[in-house]
Amino acid sequence: MNELRDKDLRTRAVHAGERGERPDFTSVVTPIYPSVGYLYDDMDDLDAVFGGTRDGYVYARYGSPTVSAFEDAVAMLEEGEAALAFGSGMAAIHAAMLGLGLHAGTSAVVAQDVYGATYALFNNLLAAQGVSARFVDASDLQAVEDACAETQPRVLFCETVSNPLLKVADIPALARIAHTHGAVLMVDNTFATPYLCRPLTLGADVVVHSATKYMCGHGDALGGVVVTSAERSRGIYEILKITGANLGPQEAWLLMRGLKTLPLRMERHCSNALQVANGVARLAGVARVIYPGRHVHPQHRLATRLFQGGGYGGMVAFELSNADQARVFQFFEALKLCLPATTLGDVYTLVLYPAHASHRALTPKERAAVGIGDGLVRMSVGIEAVEDILSDIKQALETILYA
Ligand SMILES: Cc1ncc(COP(=O)(O)O)c(C=O)c1O
Repeated sequence: MNELRDKDLRTRAVHAGERGERPDFTSVVTPIYPSVGYLYDDMDDLDAVFGGTRDGYVYARYGSPTVSAFEDAVAMLEEGEAALAFGSGMAAIHAAMLGLGLHAGTSAVVAQDVYGATYALFNNLLAAQGVSARFVDASDLQAVEDACAETQPRVLFCETVSNPLLKVADIPALARIAHTHGAVLMVDNTFATPYLCRPLTLGADVVVHSATKYMCGHGDALGGVVVTSAERSRGIYEILKITGANLGPQEAWLLMRGLKTLPLRMERHCSNALQVANGVARLAGVARVIYPGRHVHPQHRLATRLFQGGGYGGMVAFELSNADQARVFQFFEALKLCLPATTLGDVYTLVLYPAHASHRALTPKERAAVGIGDGLVRMSVGIEAVEDILSDIKQALETILYA
């Protein structure tokens, strides 16, 4: 630093304050490292990091310390060997698909009611590149078995709890089917989170998340993550390095902060959602309620087994009676506490109309085929006082019923 004092103001302005003494303390919280480049005293060390024979950082697209800290934390929560973070959940899913070897001439079997953009990724983008996808009802194990036997897919893809119909995937059974046919089982664990379920311990090979949702929890950072074995992660890392869909360090820091309260938040999300589901089922103007925690849910017993008493998640779906888009919009506009924002997993209670948001990429016919009706509302139940959430839903329903 001292030699800088004699330099011109223009030079001092650029370098002053940077790269000071190496600290002899450890910060309790992982710092945000925004640096794109990294320096080593010895150029051979830099060369070794470049060559992959020494751990370290050279360039932020190849990895950076705050992002690594987040990746390590997620790998630990999901009980996987390695995690790779991305700029969004979709970037994570896309890179994982390429890294697992989906290319022209290969195929995938995909749960039919996955998140709309995931559906579009297979149905439009990957299809245009020669990857064929067969969409099946993942809760019909015979249909999955038949599709795998017929197409010999490279990947079987499902969501632990599907978006928005909240079907619960029998991960151990799906893993057996995938492995019988030489496929990799990839599970989107966004809705369940590692609080409820760790798919890698149940036989899945790859887990993906939209970290934007429950991991973040506060609606202020976009991110995605893939967790898998060290060996499989290498192929996905090559895609990350080439395509550069990296998570930024600021976002990694926010997501890491979110992880610390994930179990606390999930506990409240789950208990609130169960009460909201049961409460909404008793209200006039609601035709049906979908929630894995209700005994009438077709996979209630499976969910109880997979989630081991941790609860049934924070997502509830319900169908308004005789409703179309206009009616659902009236309901949303009448809500005073619950927010009609296009995301989920936040501390706030959020509502979404799948037909115009998450599943907009599907044609009306495709939506009808997967069971997304015109009156379907998806609710991400927040951590507010549950009485306030329920009374808001009740007053909004009364507003549209008696308007
Ligand atoms: C289950 C699920 N997976 C993946 C995604 C995509 O995540 P992102 O919006 O972070 O790209 C979403 C987004 O809503 C989602 O709900």
